[in-house]
Amino acid sequence: MLEKLTELKQQIETALSTAADIAEVDALRVKMLGRKGEITLLLKNLGSLSPDERKTIGQKANAVRDFVTQSLETARIRLEAEHLNQSLLSEDMDITLPGKRRKLGRLHPVTTITNELESLFVSLGFDIVEGPLIETVRHNFDALNHPHNHPSRDEADTFYIAGANDGYVLRTHTSPMQVRTMESRTPPIRVVVPGMVARNDDIDATHTPVFHQMEGLVVDKGITFSDLRGMLDIIVRYTFGEEASVRLRPSHFPFTEPSAEVDISCYACGASAKKPAREDCATCKGTGWVELWGCGMVHPEVLRMSGIDPTIYSGYAFGLGTLRITSAHYGIPILKPYFENDVQFLNQF
Ligand code: PHE
Repeated sequence: MLEKLTELKQQIETALSTAADIAEVDALRVKMLGRKGEITLLLKNLGSLSPDERKTIGQKANAVRDFVTQSLETARIRLEAEHLNQSLLSEDMDITLPGKRRKLGRLHPVTTITNELESLFVSLGFDIVEGPLIETVRHNFDALNHPHNHPSRDEADTFYIAGANDGYVLRTHTSPMQVRTMESRTPPIRVVVPGMVARNDDIDATHTPVFHQMEGLVVDKGITFSDLRGMLDIIVRYTFGEEASVRLRPSHFPFTEPSAEVDISCYACGASAKKPAREDCATCKGTGWVELWGCGMVHPEVLRMSGIDPTIYSGYAFGLGTLRITSAHYGIPILKPYFENDVQFLNQF
């Protein structure tokens, strides 16, 4: 048996030194170590030997088995490497050329600004919620206190999907999420709603039929207009820098009362309390102020329709124009390019 083992070892050595492909190595493995392989059978027969013989021959047999296993593995690695080299060399190409780098995309500028605003609001304790782009007329208008003859319901302004008064629209603002949030949560409520909105509004390069807003809604006991004002100051300073200031102008929205238009000191000519506006500034037209957002105290009727008792709770809401902030931030006032998917434009950000 010892002789047989030495012989098997030699046999394997010679066979492997001449083996030309992996199939040969695999065949050898089966021949030696397979279920009926020569070494396997030999090991099985150890039982018929005397205890002394079993010990010496057993040791030798195990050593040979380990040696064979090792050699087969080494041969396989060598042949695989040879095979790879050969196939690379036989192909008609220069494997020393540098590879082509795959270009990574990047976030759209509106997404970047949205993310930054979200992190501000999260740090102030707001939840981020999202709502449907296709809204019911009830959520988009009725529950927001729009009378039936409100001009924004006009088909010239709103994209209707089906039916005028009981149908669906592409939401014209993120405000319907005020209603959905109040219907599904109980105060204290503190949410912001980023998202796309659509209006039949394509009059010039600074208007696009689709744009982005971020709605804010806070409802709790004892919320006042000064809470709103303070929050706007925080948002504006975070977005436009410490020097920026806010001006509120009385305005009207059906779902807030009182309502205000939010102007900010002109980011283009850098007007501030200390510095007058540039007279020929194209952004503020020399006024020093740019109109950016709408805001107000949630109308008691809207609270009531959404199931919140206006004698106990009050709240404020604001609608930031995320696209407008983006365009101000990057100093690109025309808005169309943001939606044209032109890589040359988007690569600048
Ligand atoms: N939804 C209004 C708009 O799109 C903005 C707004 C939001 C006003 C919240 C008041 C409160 O013009």
